[in-house]
Amino acid sequence: MISPQVIEEIRKQADIVEIISSYIDVKKKGNQFVAVCPFHADTNPSLSISRQLQIYKCFSCQAGGNVFTFVQEYERIPFIDAVRKVAEMIGYSSSELDKKERSVPSEVTNALNVVKQANELYQYLLKSNDGKQALDYLLERGISQEMIDYFELGYSSSNPELSIKLLRGKGIEIEQLEKVGILKRSQGLFTDIFTGRVTFPIYNEHSECIGFSSRRIINNDEAKYVNSPNNILFNKSNVLYNYQNAKKEAKREGYLYIVEGFMDVFALYQAGVKSCVAIMGTALTPSHAKMIKKLNVPVRLCLDGDEPGQHAMVRVGEILDVEGIEYQVVDYGKSTQDPDEILQKYGKDILKKLLNRVLDKYDFIYLYYKKKFDLSSSIGRRQFAETLIPQVSKIKDEISRDILINRLSLDTGITKDILNKECAKLVQKPEQKATFNTIQYTPIKKSKKSKLDNIQRATLMMMLSSNEAIKDYQANSNINFVDPLYLEIANYMIDILETQHEFDIGTLISVLQQSNNQRSQTLISTITELQSNEYSQPYSKVAMEDNLMALKREYDKNKNEFKFKNETYGKDYGEQAKILQDYVDSQKGDK
Ligand code: GTP
Ligand code: MN
Repeated sequence: MISPQVIEEIRKQADIVEIISSYIDVKKKGNQFVAVCPFHADTNPSLSISRQLQIYKCFSCQAGGNVFTFVQEYERIPFIDAVRKVAEMIGYSSSELDKKERSVPSEVTNALNVVKQANELYQYLLKSNDGKQALDYLLERGISQEMIDYFELGYSSSNPELSIKLLRGKGIEIEQLEKVGILKRSQGLFTDIFTGRVTFPIYNEHSECIGFSSRRIINNDEAKYVNSPNNILFNKSNVLYNYQNAKKEAKREGYLYIVEGFMDVFALYQAGVKSCVAIMGTALTPSHAKMIKKLNVPVRLCLDGDEPGQHAMVRVGEILDVEGIEYQVVDYGKSTQDPDEILQKYGKDILKKLLNRVLDKYDFIYLYYKKKFDLSSSIGRRQFAETLIPQVSKIKDEISRDILINRLSLDTGITKDILNKECAKLVQKPEQKATFNTIQYTPIKKSKKSKLDNIQRATLMMMLSSNEAIKDYQANSNINFVDPLYLEIANYMIDILETQHEFDIGTLISVLQQSNNQRSQTLISTITELQSNEYSQPYSKVAMEDNLMALKREYDKNKNEFKFKNETYGKDYGEQAKILQDYVDSQKGDK
């Protein structure tokens, strides 16, 4: 558990303007900061951020909250992860944050421990006499000692039983080694599946070592690479090689490169890029895309330059599109090599240049298909257009779409008009949901507010801006808010003032976030909406007493109505229906 004190400290040390700026474009406007709200489809800057109050609010979709709410909703992660994330961003450290919040079954914990020990052993073996040949192999491929340490490269002895014996010597059972896929039984022997190979530890998204890949060090007819088989820790469809390092570097470097193989990861490292993952020769899955999305940086695809590599990038792009991940594609020009081959042949400076030569995703797709058709024949031009139109119709951005249509028209000789018409046939209705919107906000009705509502809001607004106002409200114990929503907020405020001797809005939102109350989101939304009201009256004792008196007067005036509401409140649907039926009948009788 992270204590409320630590959460509060993190919140106070973080600056909401800076944190939000690291996700989206924020502009200064007077005392406020504004941005295009990422929680609904919009192009106007309806999101307003207050540095003073450390809250944000969207005037259009009513999203609002403090720094944690923003990170939580933008990243679609649980509250506690948002707290950790913010702590990480501001460099806040506390032993409380190090503890794992995930509840992991002991079976998994044990398995993790086994893999961890194996990883340590392999690294040790690479440095031992036995590992000489493997070490030479790596050095020869240009992998330095520093990289060997960074990537924790290892070696599983040429003696297939050795590593198993050493691990058993550490008290690990045969069954445990079998379960994590390291051990195989062959002819009565217990042997290591990676024997005689260099090992590459593979980490999951929580930066836990869950298995290995391994490469042969001599050219023979064995498989070039052998991976851990799927088991309780390891599942091919959701591991990305080097994710644990990319996670640390992505924000700083601004991109995540996706490459095909281990050697390419090492090549990019030598060209100065650490934010890089390899898909290990398989297709990119939606689970991969979800892991990538969490890094929150645009992707740069850098699979091999050959045809299969280029084709794979089109497919990868489609999956990234589904998750709404932005990407560019490294432009190989005519080269069909992979990054490792380019590094070996031309050196790291050329590779570095190549990595920064990128195509916009639409340009990439366009060029990819253009190469496939013979545009000198009319049938080729037609096929090119037929292939491209479904792709173009998916593009939501009108300008990008128009540019492609223009280009397509020039290349095929088909008029823009016809291309646009074909495109329009395929255009589906825009998705109802904005990309980031996970929570359905109930928009606060803009309808004319009742006098009672106005006075309740004025009172609450004053309380939100002044501790004295809260005390005044508390002192008049016979006057209460009528609307349960406002009442609940006021109660929270009193609680905070009493326990922490000081109230501020950011704390209130934090408390609500932690309260596990289903209504928290509505409460937070109401609070931020009230707070961002420009017409709030400054606190004075007289003004507050006026508010309270007005509140009482309005309450008295409408007492009967509230009484009626209270009578029906909580009644079951059957009874409510009966009341309604009586009402309908009485109306009929009038006719
Ligand atoms: P080197 O040949 O060592 O330079 O590796 P590479 O990364 O260039 O390999 P390649 O381009 O042939 O394959 C790309 C990726 O596919 C590799 O990094 C592996 O993850 C995977 N791969 C290649 N060969 C095999 C194999 O035989 N078995 C398995 N399981 N994966 C392989
Ligand atoms: Mn290679």
